[in-house]
Amino acid sequence: MCGIVAYLGERLASSVVVKGLKRLEYRGYDSSGVAVMDGGMTVYKKKGKVAELEQLLQNQNLTSHIAIGHTRWATHGEPNDVNAHPHVSNSGRLSLVHNGIIENYASIKQMLISKGYTFSSQTDTEVLVNFIEEVQKAGNYELDEAVRKALKDVVGAYAIVIMDKENPNVLIGARKGSPLVIGLGQNEYFFASDATPIIEYTKEMVYLDDLEVAKVSPEGLEIKNLQNEVSDPQVHTVDLELEAIEKGGFDHFMLKEIFEQPKSISDCLRGRIHPEEAWIKLGGLRDYIGKLANSKRIVFVACGTSWHAGLVGEYLFEELARINVEVEYASEFRYRNPIIREGDIVIAISQSGETADTLAALELAKSKGAIILGVCNVVGSSIARVTHAGVYTHAGPEIGVASTKAFTAQVSVLSLMAIATAHQKGTITEDTFRRLLWELQEMPKKVEMILQKADEIKDISKLFTFASNFIFLGRGLNFPVALEGALKLKEISYIHAEGYPAAEMKHGPIALIDEDMPVVFIATRDSSYEKVVSNIQEVKARKGRVIAIVSAGETEVQKMVDFTIEIPNTHEMLQPLLSVIPLQLLSYYIAVLRGRNVDQPRNLAKSVTVE
Ligand code: F6R
Repeated sequence: MCGIVAYLGERLASSVVVKGLKRLEYRGYDSSGVAVMDGGMTVYKKKGKVAELEQLLQNQNLTSHIAIGHTRWATHGEPNDVNAHPHVSNSGRLSLVHNGIIENYASIKQMLISKGYTFSSQTDTEVLVNFIEEVQKAGNYELDEAVRKALKDVVGAYAIVIMDKENPNVLIGARKGSPLVIGLGQNEYFFASDATPIIEYTKEMVYLDDLEVAKVSPEGLEIKNLQNEVSDPQVHTVDLELEAIEKGGFDHFMLKEIFEQPKSISDCLRGRIHPEEAWIKLGGLRDYIGKLANSKRIVFVACGTSWHAGLVGEYLFEELARINVEVEYASEFRYRNPIIREGDIVIAISQSGETADTLAALELAKSKGAIILGVCNVVGSSIARVTHAGVYTHAGPEIGVASTKAFTAQVSVLSLMAIATAHQKGTITEDTFRRLLWELQEMPKKVEMILQKADEIKDISKLFTFASNFIFLGRGLNFPVALEGALKLKEISYIHAEGYPAAEMKHGPIALIDEDMPVVFIATRDSSYEKVVSNIQEVKARKGRVIAIVSAGETEVQKMVDFTIEIPNTHEMLQPLLSVIPLQLLSYYIAVLRGRNVDQPRNLAKSVTVE
């Protein structure tokens, strides 16, 4: 949510920054801007996509070697040129880009107004840059010192980078709650919200910690905390190739990511299971599987699609390991004074590892004495670093705003964790253990088989492109899949869609069913199959139009419904990994046929770093 890129070095700074902003555009795309130092300091900002900014810069003849840039997802103030970042201080000396929310901006603004400051935007960011200027002026401090002093009085979340007209060879970055990475090149430095805009130039990164302030200049990198104590930068070599963040011939990142799932699931499983030798290894949880096996309660905290993965995790842990599980929206959990008992384990699930509510929920659980674990995709992310231990999903970068491959990788990891815990606890037989491992190993092949049906699914999508509503129904492990199918459809096509447990339909939603209501049933051959078939009959009796996701070889449902999409058979506990794939494709094709921007749907942004 909001992307920051900044550069100091020998290259043309504006072009490094704008190219980087394009790579970060999935974090926000309502407006963008850069500030460059070309003699003086000049700011260029534009409402709309980064391409609009690029056009604005085309004839500017820029030569600067230092620049800061931002792509925005609006929090304070509507998306327009004025509210776009960078923001400049009243004297014109400082410019600043910011990702996050300054909660006490109103009181700081009042104080600044009383000292004669004026504001042209509605943003908290313009308040922050002027506050830093005021602190700098009042104490005649160097910029880094002024930033440290000012940030002590700031409440909220931020990742910021600042440029000072009077020190044109210095960039200052700081963070609390929002991510900021520093890239180290040959005589050059980068700041960015994540590694993607930087890996083209260097793989050496330093992840700034909360309440740290970094100063880069031709003299090097210096990191201090707000108390002015120097910290030793830990340099990480990022294992990420450029191809992973490019479309590679697909029309959209989302489609590429859907089709990457055989690979992302197999990357997630690699080295972690061996069906012949019957073992699971989760290196990151080496010392924690025993604790999971002994735990009385597991609480998953997550948001959105990751929360749906948590619901799948609930079925897996309860059924296989016989452990009581609760799945919480992180945003609710953190404000509810939740009960945490000794031995409770709280597990955060997050693709980005930066979701503000999930991070705050974890920190709360930690403060109450829980063991906190993470299931994250982005290596080195805040959640990955704050947890006691965890498992990376290794799905590779997910750029499409709608989550697809991250979900199947999360479910793969949760399956591994539940199976390993159940095995250790002795709640599954050796036969079941081996069978589950075999089925997991087969998963990439089976996903591939579903992807080969993409054209068939596209044809079905054409018939539903103009639907105004959709209902998704499933039972057991397929209930979270129904929720996920509905979320995918609504976020990228803007069609209203609801997911329900199939049996709940009779308690209200059935009133919506008529000949105009498409209903997607997940009706695979599992323990609730017969019940789901009855639910299908109830919908058909009311003339609903039914698309059913069914197991290979199914004939009974085929006779009842309008369309079926067959998926391979697998162990019931692993079914979501397959049943979600046709729903992803269905949503994708419907959204494309409706002319939607599937990679950057309106109002959304990847990585929600504000609450
Ligand atoms: C939906 C989607 C969101 C995210 C949610 C949590 O397609 O992507 O619902 O799942 O914002 O994000 P992470 O997993 O990064 O914590």
